[in-house]
Amino acid sequence: MNPLPKLFSREAFTSIGLMVLILLVAVQFLRPELKERPVTRDITLPADVKAIFKKSCYDCHSNETQLGWGDQIVPAYWLVARHIRQGRAHLNFSEWDKLTPAERKQKLWEAVNHTALGAMPCADYVFMHPAAKVSDKELTILKNYLASLVDYEPSDTSKINAEAIQYQQWLHTKAQSILPVSPNSITYDPNYKNWQVLSTSNRFESGTMRVIFGNEIAIQAVSLHKTRPWPDGARLAKALWTQVTDSAGNARTGAFVQLDFMIKNSQKYASTGGWGFARFKTLKMVPYGKTALFASECINCHRPMKNQDYVFTIPVKTERRESR
Ligand code: HEC
Ligand code: HEC
Repeated sequence: MNPLPKLFSREAFTSIGLMVLILLVAVQFLRPELKERPVTRDITLPADVKAIFKKSCYDCHSNETQLGWGDQIVPAYWLVARHIRQGRAHLNFSEWDKLTPAERKQKLWEAVNHTALGAMPCADYVFMHPAAKVSDKELTILKNYLASLVDYEPSDTSKINAEAIQYQQWLHTKAQSILPVSPNSITYDPNYKNWQVLSTSNRFESGTMRVIFGNEIAIQAVSLHKTRPWPDGARLAKALWTQVTDSAGNARTGAFVQLDFMIKNSQKYASTGGWGFARFKTLKMVPYGKTALFASECINCHRPMKNQDYVFTIPVKTERRESR
């Protein structure tokens, strides 16, 4: 029982098949050109980290694209070529020299974030190249590398602290009257000046100094190693200054940049990892963000630290201490 002969004669069927074949061959010549671009400076990474990016990302995010034969065939080629052009425009590991140090760090964060979220490599690409999928083990390598970039060792703590505390005292008197509120309804908490300093660092992003504070609940959680997850009521603050170097070559805090808060309430802030995020900018403590959606920017960058309840500073430090 074959319906085909009723519709087409055997000859007609063969010639239609032939036409399709010719068309498929002809269409192979419709190739948007993929420009060869020189590698101006390949990103420098530890070998195990580099291997993962090379395997899973370099086809679209470098100038060292290596297309398999399957990718060369139209229409797959059309899709891949578009991915490559767009991918390189967003992130190109082969032109790392075109980015500032701050941009490099930002891109690296985003790269691990996108991978952790399963957004990268693109699903249709993984379908064609199953080996490109980043395994859980590989993801851990990427996250650990990211965490290792953050420097937690206090650097000249006393000086930063003295200035930080002076500054906070000034701020405290100023902030009493009207307290600014973030778009997601978090009120600026002037009490942070009474919190304990958890960590200071000035190395991770060059040109800035930061002091991280924790309220009593947070400090207690740290000392009890109960930070996975942090308890409700824990509050963390991060104050950020630009860094200036005085004539004697000492690093000092320059202009105040912003104050960030993370406030733990696992139910209220369930959509952002159980943390309420708020940022207040400059000495005027201007709430950051137009709508409450600004918090997704915060949680997205903190997401690589998911198994440390989205907090960079303390859990890593206690972990290091434990392993010593
Ligand atoms: C098949 C091609 C392809 C592969 C493979 C691929 N990407 Fe992408 N990537 C893209 C395209 C296309 C975009 C831009 C469009 C979009 O945002 O979806 C993009 C966007 C990104 C962005 C956003 C950059 C920005 O400035 O917004 C990051 C980060 C990223 N990719 C990281 C990665 C990482 C890390 C890997 C490997 C684990 C990877 N990609 C693998 C094609 C690819
Ligand atoms: C580009 C990535 C990135 C973005 C975006 C980001 N953070 Fe962070 N955040 C960090 C890093 C890295 C640290 C660790 C301390 C340091 O080195 O500055 C941190 C630390 C913190 C801390 C101290 C507790 C901790 O996790 O160590 C708070 C509070 C904080 N951020 C709040 C915010 C808020 C609020 C926003 C959004 C307005 C935000 N962050 C957006 C990367 C980011």
